[in-house]
Amino acid sequence: MRLYLSIAVLMMTVAVSVAQAAEPILIRFSHVTGDNTPKGQGAVLFKQRVEERLAGKVRVEIFPRSLKFNDNQVMLALLFGDVELAAPSLAKFRSFSPKLQLFDFPFLFDDVEAVHRFQASAAGRKLLGSMTDRGFKGLAFWENGMRAMSANRPLRVPADLKGLRFRIEPSAVMQAQYRALSVATVPMPFKQVRDALKLGLVTGQENAWSNIYSKRFDDFQKYFLDLGHSYLGYMLVTSAEFWDSLPPDTRSELEEIIVEVTAEVNRIAREKAQSDRQKIIDAGRAKIVTPTHEERQEWQRVLKPTWKKFEAEVGKELIEAAMQANR
Ligand code: LMR
Repeated sequence: MRLYLSIAVLMMTVAVSVAQAAEPILIRFSHVTGDNTPKGQGAVLFKQRVEERLAGKVRVEIFPRSLKFNDNQVMLALLFGDVELAAPSLAKFRSFSPKLQLFDFPFLFDDVEAVHRFQASAAGRKLLGSMTDRGFKGLAFWENGMRAMSANRPLRVPADLKGLRFRIEPSAVMQAQYRALSVATVPMPFKQVRDALKLGLVTGQENAWSNIYSKRFDDFQKYFLDLGHSYLGYMLVTSAEFWDSLPPDTRSELEEIIVEVTAEVNRIAREKAQSDRQKIIDAGRAKIVTPTHEERQEWQRVLKPTWKKFEAEVGKELIEAAMQANR
């Protein structure tokens, strides 16, 4: 009898540990845009590939459109283990890594190709590790595109913005940029921008074309200026504690998937920067103006001096390295 009991207990113990071992690791990916954006598509693709190649080992849940957290909340949520993956825009990391403010500098990068060259350089790659001492691990840079501005009055030159009230991301660089243009700023989460434009709480905004189109800001903004003055991109980020706790083979498979998905996100971003812009033109509700060379120079003359204010926080060498990426 005793022998039977011991065997039964042993079998139950084995069954419980097998069940425990079989429980897949859960990766909750929280972000703020829709599925029809480069980041949204990247999240979906990441989930598909992980669940194909790490079936039974890793499961991914996506929370898009700020369903779980907005970007102000998500970094702490990573540290508290409430989610495992996020991809805030590079404008949102100031309190964790002031150097990342570099990406918001107006007219620093000529185009997205220059951003890619910089991000692939030693100085750029190092930025992925710039939050390790805060408990975060940067996994990749994801692209969205260059930013355009909009309002309900025609915009061509800096003086056209005077007196407007712009929604900005919580970025000190953007704040300085608009101060130089005599524009009031209201930092607010992405989720609230459409309503704020609708209600007239803000009278202008800037964003990448895929974000503008996915939220149909052209319902409430009649004039767009395709200035491309700054870059909107993301850092795919996790908690270092979570990442280090993964079994090494699972971690390296995830890293491989991230490299593949990053290439796809960047391809989709290029495509959408063109096609979503075109869809706004085709909808016919708003007018898009591309500044002339002289007009761009006027913008640069007003906005480039704002870099100076951030030189100490970002570092002269890093700014220099970023400038080198322009050809
Ligand atoms: C914004 O807040 O406008 C963007 O950073 C949203 C996003 O994630 O693209």
